[in-house]
Amino acid sequence: MRRLESFKKLNMIKKILGVALALSVMGFSCKSPGKKQTRPTVENSSDQKWWKEAVVYQVYPRSFKDSDGDGVGDLKGIISKLDYIKSLGIDAVWLNPIYTSPNDDNGYDISDYRSIMKDFGTIEDFDALLKGLHERKIKLVMDLVVNHSSDEHEWFKQSRSSRTSPYRNYYHWWNAERGKPAYRWSFFDINSDAWKYDSLTNSYYLHYFSRKQPDLNWENPQLRKEVYEIMKFWLNKGIDGIRLDAFQLASKDTSFPPLPAGYENNIIKYYGMGPHLHDYLQEMNREVFSKYDIMTVAEGAGSSFEDAHALVDPDRNELNMAYHFEGIDFGNFRPDYNLVGFKEIYSRWDSAFAIKGWLSIFLANHDQPRMVSHWGNDDSLFREASSKMLTTFALSMRGTPYYYYGDELGMSNIKFDNIEDYRDIATLNKYKKLKSDGGDLDKYIETQKRASRDNGRTPLQWDDSPNAGFTSGKPWIKVNPNFTTVNAAAQEKDSNSVLNYFRKMVKLRRENEVLVYGLYTLLDKDNPDVYAYTRELNGKKFLVLLNFKSKATTVDTGGIDLSKAKILISNYASTSVDNKLQPYEAVIYEL
Ligand code: NOJ
Repeated sequence: MRRLESFKKLNMIKKILGVALALSVMGFSCKSPGKKQTRPTVENSSDQKWWKEAVVYQVYPRSFKDSDGDGVGDLKGIISKLDYIKSLGIDAVWLNPIYTSPNDDNGYDISDYRSIMKDFGTIEDFDALLKGLHERKIKLVMDLVVNHSSDEHEWFKQSRSSRTSPYRNYYHWWNAERGKPAYRWSFFDINSDAWKYDSLTNSYYLHYFSRKQPDLNWENPQLRKEVYEIMKFWLNKGIDGIRLDAFQLASKDTSFPPLPAGYENNIIKYYGMGPHLHDYLQEMNREVFSKYDIMTVAEGAGSSFEDAHALVDPDRNELNMAYHFEGIDFGNFRPDYNLVGFKEIYSRWDSAFAIKGWLSIFLANHDQPRMVSHWGNDDSLFREASSKMLTTFALSMRGTPYYYYGDELGMSNIKFDNIEDYRDIATLNKYKKLKSDGGDLDKYIETQKRASRDNGRTPLQWDDSPNAGFTSGKPWIKVNPNFTTVNAAAQEKDSNSVLNYFRKMVKLRRENEVLVYGLYTLLDKDNPDVYAYTRELNGKKFLVLLNFKSKATTVDTGGIDLSKAKILISNYASTSVDNKLQPYEAVIYEL
């Protein structure tokens, strides 16, 4: 009831803000953070939606829990841990791809979109998992990879078999008698070349990712229809959402003109948001999404606010939300990244979506190193405090938080010394390329300790038994040796653990819509150590203070009187006073 009234008020404000909105759309990219805002950005005034209020917990199935001792996590393993997932208080689980796949890129290369990868189990296991989640009132978001398939998919086998195959047009082919197609850079190819010559039909095919991930041809209406049927197959089973992998790359200029030199430094500008992307999304929405109560999220949001808005503006009927990469890509994995720049990015994006559209917030996922190693400090002295501080940030910003498995324990980068320990195609292929070019391999291994995706893919540390209780067999990737101290069982027993802090923070967000919808205002924007902001909604005002550094410091809140403020959560037993903050201290006050 209270919420309904809040939203009635919001709708009034929305009307008043009509003009302001039009102006703000035009001024998005020049807005500077922390400046006194001239328009009354109150809060996102679109309708209240479950997917805006949800906390999404990401499960990387390969590494969550193995039930059969083959060293690979599986669906039965996840089922055995559903009560743990429920205990986190989260609303939805996002599962990385679980479809049949030869695993060139850990499931992001799908060879059958309607069956489950053998390593992970069966379709019956899937049904049981979905039922178990729904019984616990947890929604399920599936990852759908349709910018490309596996080269072992039947479509591709048919497509490559002859130039006249009815499936030829499901992929992008270039007949070799036309000469070599204009160069396209590839993310994972060992030579960074996205065109692969195939002698069978004397043609090249396009693969923005690995050679085993040929790009699907979205210009072909038949292909689009097939994808919509796949989506309906899973939605009819009752899943609650879809994450569209790499979808900003789906539409291409199929004349494949030469691109300017050095374009690979701005890949999204040249590969993203192709000519018909919005047509495809609107068709997809019409044909599929509009028929279900689901959430849809795109990986990637183009290269400007306008691109991002076009994807998620509710009036356009495309997607519900997107996630941009500017925040996660900032700082080049340097531990001494510039906090002022970090704040500027998050504030600018918040401002651009203050009135219309919706984004997600995340500090880690399966393509990133661990949250605490990347943005905090994994030294044993600071691992716990900085994990909690980052959790406070991720769950107190506007936008739907996506929180990665294991971060709730403060799991950290494994930092392998040897290339033999790595499993990720991105790390391995770059290594091979560097080796053949005579590059500095030791330096490369050092950077991978900070940057490799494998750092974030090690098995969940359940307890201090062998292999952290993840498997009774040999894990597909090594377990982080710190599992003897960093594990869920130990943290269950400790009310001050990182795990229990995460639970408290999730609860705080769920119980306070001000943390979901409230106006965000950055304070002390040039402070190099502290990220401080307020969130406000309907007379309720929270102050969030986060020390991102390993030293004690101070913050200038512009004279906010804290004498009567109530501490809602804090990661230190005794919270600092007088605007002083201890290393990695996090505190949220109600003012
Ligand atoms: C983005 C996914 O998150 C990543 O893991 C994958 O390698 C690429 N897309 C290709 O599917």
